[in-house]
Amino acid sequence: MEKVSARIAALEESQTIAMSKKSRELTAQGIDVINLSVGEPDFFTPDFVKEAAKKAIDLNYSFYSPVVGYKDLLGAICGKLKRENNLDYQPEQIVVSAGAKHSLSNVLMCVVDKDDEVIVPAPYWVSYVELVKLAEGKNIVIETSIDNDFKITPKQFEAAITPKTRALMLCSPSNPSGSVYSFEELKAIAQVLEKYPNIIVISDEIYEHINFVGKHESIAQFDSIRDRVVIINGVSKGYAMTGWRIGFSASARWIAKACEKLQSQQTSGVCSIAQQAAIAAFNSDGEYPRQMR
Ligand SMILES: Cc1ncc(COP(=O)(O)O)c(C=O)c1O
Repeated sequence: MEKVSARIAALEESQTIAMSKKSRELTAQGIDVINLSVGEPDFFTPDFVKEAAKKAIDLNYSFYSPVVGYKDLLGAICGKLKRENNLDYQPEQIVVSAGAKHSLSNVLMCVVDKDDEVIVPAPYWVSYVELVKLAEGKNIVIETSIDNDFKITPKQFEAAITPKTRALMLCSPSNPSGSVYSFEELKAIAQVLEKYPNIIVISDEIYEHINFVGKHESIAQFDSIRDRVVIINGVSKGYAMTGWRIGFSASARWIAKACEKLQSQQTSGVCSIAQQAAIAAFNSDGEYPRQMR
């Protein structure tokens, strides 16, 4: 009998990936398509990153890597977080996964229990609500409007909190709205969070470098809630490396340990060559993302 699990039957296919597939099919038929589906820079991966990958092949980076990623890569990510975000993280707080999407999935699986509520401001990136469903959580969607630049207000956020709230999903710069939360706006949300010590913030910062309105601010900068913020980021957008599949989470150690346990059973460490390439990206001076802008 052909019967998939109820878990997968309830899951929607990623709409952006479905659109992208359609676009590829039409392009193959010779049709001129402007593909606005997946968030993908139409630049090539920088040469210095490609060189690092080629070197890694010649140096025989062909064995299993540690589950959380090579030590050098964890160090390079901590360096990036300090240099670009002025945030102090230790390598034990970082877990490298197969793209930011995989990091998000790991974190949700590790912190959300059945029927826990996850607050998701709308409009949202399509995968958030499906990943919450997969973790058996309940999506609590907050509608935003153009009047507030499609950002949640502290009042809206607090009104959505219940005793079952487990996490807030924040995305800044946001896909799809492009909105960017300012320091003051994040501070106001952090002040609400101070009253609710069980709520974790999953801060998706994958579009950090695709920001046309000013400096990127991370909600992890507020010490009072810092141990409950999970930063999600990677090389996909900033270094035009969507296909290389390198993302990371930066979190409290207990969350990192849980993600390591999950990943040790599901995927092990991600592609060794891509990890070596990502070291070059994270150790660079950030000029490449600036050039793309
Ligand atoms: C908001 C958001 N987060 C995460 C991702 C996933 O990034 P990655 O390619 O690193 O998995 C995307 C990709 O489109 C995205 O739009």
